[in-house]
Formats: sequence, C-alpha cells, structure tokens
Amino acid sequence: MPAAEKGAPVNELLEGLATTRTIRRYTDDPVEEHDLVQILWHATRAPSGSNRQHVRYIVLRDSEPALQARAALGRAARAAWQHKEAADGYGAGSGTVADSPKSRMAATMQHYVEHFHEAPVIVVVCLLRYREANPYEGASVYPAVQNLLLAARGLGFGGAVTMWHSLVEQELRELLQIPAEAALSACVTLGRPAGRHGPVRRRPLSEVVFDGQWGEAAEWALDPPGTQFTGWK
Ligand SMILES: Cc1cc2nc3c(=O)[nH]c(=O)nc-3n(C[C@H](O)[C@H](O)[C@H](O)COP(=O)(O)O)c2cc1C
Repeated sequence: MPAAEKGAPVNELLEGLATTRTIRRYTDDPVEEHDLVQILWHATRAPSGSNRQHVRYIVLRDSEPALQARAALGRAARAAWQHKEAADGYGAGSGTVADSPKSRMAATMQHYVEHFHEAPVIVVVCLLRYREANPYEGASVYPAVQNLLLAARGLGFGGAVTMWHSLVEQELRELLQIPAEAALSACVTLGRPAGRHGPVRRRPLSEVVFDGQWGEAAEWALDPPGTQFTGWK
C-alpha cells in the first residue's frame, strides 16, 4: 500500500474521534440489518481485560419483549429527565433565554425522552460477570460502547449512551430474561441523525493534562487552533 494511502485512514479515524457527537434526534430511517451487523461487529473489536469478551448486546427492535422493554425505557427516560431538568435548573438563568445553549439542550432532551421508545434501534449493553462486581469492571464494557458509537458514525448513523435503564432494571431483567450474573452497563439509542455530527466541545487541554505530577501545567499540551470548548456546566 502506498504511504499516502496508509496514512489516510488514520486521519479519518481521528476526524471521527473529534466529531462524533451524542445524537438524540433521529429520522424515521431504519437501521437495516446489514448496517446493524457491521456496527455490532466493530463494537466487538474493542479491547477487554484478558480479552475475555464478556460484553453482551441485546438489540431491541420490534419483537414483543423488545416493544415492552422500549416502553419501560421510555418511561425511565422521561422520569430521569424530569428530575434532572428541575435539579439542574434548566428552567432558570440562561435556560429562560430562547435559543441559549441551555434552552436548546433542554429542548433536545425533552424531544429525546418523548421519543426514546421509538428510537430506530436501542441496544442494551451488558457485562457477563465472572467475578464479584468491582469498581473497574466498566473498563471492559465502555470501550465497546464507544466502538459501537464510532462504527455507527462511520456508517452515517449516530447514537447516545444513556444510563436510564437503571430505573427499570428489574423490569428489563424479567422482560428480556437477563441472567443475574449479567450487569446492565449502558443503553444506547441509534439511528440516522436528524441533525448532524460536528466538533465536540470539551475542556481545554491546559485544564485536564498535567506534566509529571498532579497540578503541574503541561505547557506543550495546546489544543489545535479552532478548537471549541464547553461554554457552560
Ligand atoms: C457514561 C455516560 C453516561 C451518559 N448518560 C446519558 C444519559 O443518561 N442520557 C443522555 O441523554 N446522555 C447521556 N450521556 C451522553 C453525554 O451527556 C454526552 O456524551 C455529553 O454531554 C457530551 O456531549 P457530546 O457527546 O455530544 O459531545 C452519557 C454519556 C456517557 C459517556
């Protein structure tokens, strides 16, 4: 392979890392099986401790148990957002200003939770435990979740990671016959973005990278020109 071609995919990969946003609004387009299988195949390429590969994916489409699980998740999403909206003061401060980032975020979230159960695909990601629950077990699941999002992105889809399944976990376990030894790690909605991907906003490198010891500024760690940062918390 010529050197130029060898380098190109890496740049596309980095571009994908920098621009894969959380997508919470979807068109009505389905995620066809030939795309779904690619997304899942790439998710399963993620690393895991000792390569144990204990991640399991329950794909919710339109079977009867899936529809019931979707309904339960939709209820959980609405309850969780209702709580967060009040607790985090989305209706106060700049949240009252039309078109402010905060009020736009609130509108996006409201739309998301109202339509959560209708997401083209929902994937419940589980970890099949082989030892006692421990603080590090997520390390073997979340790389796969990120791979799943990036693979979806690569195929023109988008998704959102959510933790709202925890509110209806017992119901999901019964509906989907999830064994006791499987932990429910994430619930990911997927679909064709109604909006678009684009540069994600994060804290500046100068705030989050230390040189050699905690708190020591890393003078060389500069964001590339044009980087956009999170504006509010
Ligand atoms: C562990 C984890 C849990 C998350 N939980 C939720 C959630 O419950 N609901 C939701 O709408 N988004 C959730 N998100 C998405 C984050 O809110 C999102 O990644 C973050 O705000 C940054 O936005 P961006 O991905 O568009 O840059 C979660 C993301 C992660 C990694």
